[in-house]
Amino acid sequence: MTDFDRTESDDVNRVEDMKDDSSTNRDRTEPIVDRAREIIPGGAQTGLRAQAYDTGDVAFESASGATLTTVAGEQYIDYHLGFGPIILGHAHEDVDAAARAAIDDGVLYGAGTTPLEVEVAERLVDLVPSVEMVNFCNSGSEATYHAIRLARAATGNEKVLKFEGCYHGWHDYVDVSVYPPADRVGERYPESDGMLPAAVENTLVAPFNDSDAAEEIVRDHSDDLAAVILEPVPHSVGCLHPRTEFLETLREVTEVHGVPLIFDEVISGFRHSPHGVQGEVNVTPDLTCVAKALGNGYPVAAVGGRSDLLAQAGGDNESGVVISGTYSGSLPGLAAARETIDTIVAEDVQASLTDLGDRYRDGLADLLEDHGVDGRVVGHRSIFSVQFGVRGEPRTYEDVLGLDEERFHAFAAGMRERGHFFTPNPYKRHHLSAAHDEAHLESYLEAADTVLAEL
Ligand SMILES: Cc1ncc(COP(=O)(O)O)c(C=O)c1O
Repeated sequence: MTDFDRTESDDVNRVEDMKDDSSTNRDRTEPIVDRAREIIPGGAQTGLRAQAYDTGDVAFESASGATLTTVAGEQYIDYHLGFGPIILGHAHEDVDAAARAAIDDGVLYGAGTTPLEVEVAERLVDLVPSVEMVNFCNSGSEATYHAIRLARAATGNEKVLKFEGCYHGWHDYVDVSVYPPADRVGERYPESDGMLPAAVENTLVAPFNDSDAAEEIVRDHSDDLAAVILEPVPHSVGCLHPRTEFLETLREVTEVHGVPLIFDEVISGFRHSPHGVQGEVNVTPDLTCVAKALGNGYPVAAVGGRSDLLAQAGGDNESGVVISGTYSGSLPGLAAARETIDTIVAEDVQASLTDLGDRYRDGLADLLEDHGVDGRVVGHRSIFSVQFGVRGEPRTYEDVLGLDEERFHAFAAGMRERGHFFTPNPYKRHHLSAAHDEAHLESYLEAADTVLAEL
């Protein structure tokens, strides 16, 4: 039985000071956002970032610790944290100093071995149970792409099984059935126009936490299945706690049929634990993808796992898999990763973040109850979400359907007015970093008390 089986400051004052000056804020923000909209689709890099505009145009200029500052000088306590990578806080002195030292020695050599890549790879091998060998890249999507290519090469099979509500990046193999509408649940639902139908066709989907369904698919497709991929704790829909029995069944059935099991720990790796969720649940996959918190915001990611799978990418005549990338293993990212990992381990960052996360969750849950607001608080360790109009512990994507999006928008807008920033997307999540503290907690709960009273 693991944790997952359970059911059910100063910155703050400055935020208040800034609120009066709304016309100045608009004067400074609108010109830059307008220029962006002329030449950048949606006005921001990726549509999801443009969602920040849903609660009023915003352009950010700097960040430090737990604080985000706009071009107009407004300051927010940041719960978005760049979609999760910032685990130690923005502009972390030691991480940035490590990256700067690497920059001083040249950012990219593009040939041979660098001592830094060995040092970071050794740390991953030591810390993450499934990792025997490692290839670095720059993003989570690259890592899942490489993992699937390694699995296809090893098995000679084409199909991949993924789970509804799990996000594994933007590429055609996996951007399927992440947020299917209610009437498309159970189908292969492409999340984007322009995807290759053959890729979507080869991506099978099943409900998360449904051991029988997954087992049946793996058995039925044992001749053509290349991989099973999942977020062991799906955070792309807030938080679904996995049943230990589900993860164990996946491990057993994939082992029996020789299908590589891929844990996408892009969010969870180094955020929930230096050992990943796999270390928490004692289920060891064949391949693991890590990114985000690995480098505290620097573009660094990795695919690691069984050495026979990774060795396929050795780059010699015997190795058939090509893994390449001009910027893979770039030195500032690796230096940031080494410093981030060492800090997380030395300071046992997850212990304090888990405690703080519990207090945010408990405080929010109490407020929902006090105000008679229909909703629930979900999360794990340093991640939490408030979901309106739904109750009970969500275990599958369908349990997340039907949440009250309007109410979440209103909550996000009210919290933003009071200096607390998170994306107004109701399926996303709040993140905490080592820079968040007691004062932030108090201020957040005080603001939430007011906003929930008004909802
Ligand atoms: C679980 C998971 N996997 C993969 C990705 C893709 O990572 P990236 O955006 O770095 O390509 C993400 C991004 O949010 C993610 O949350």
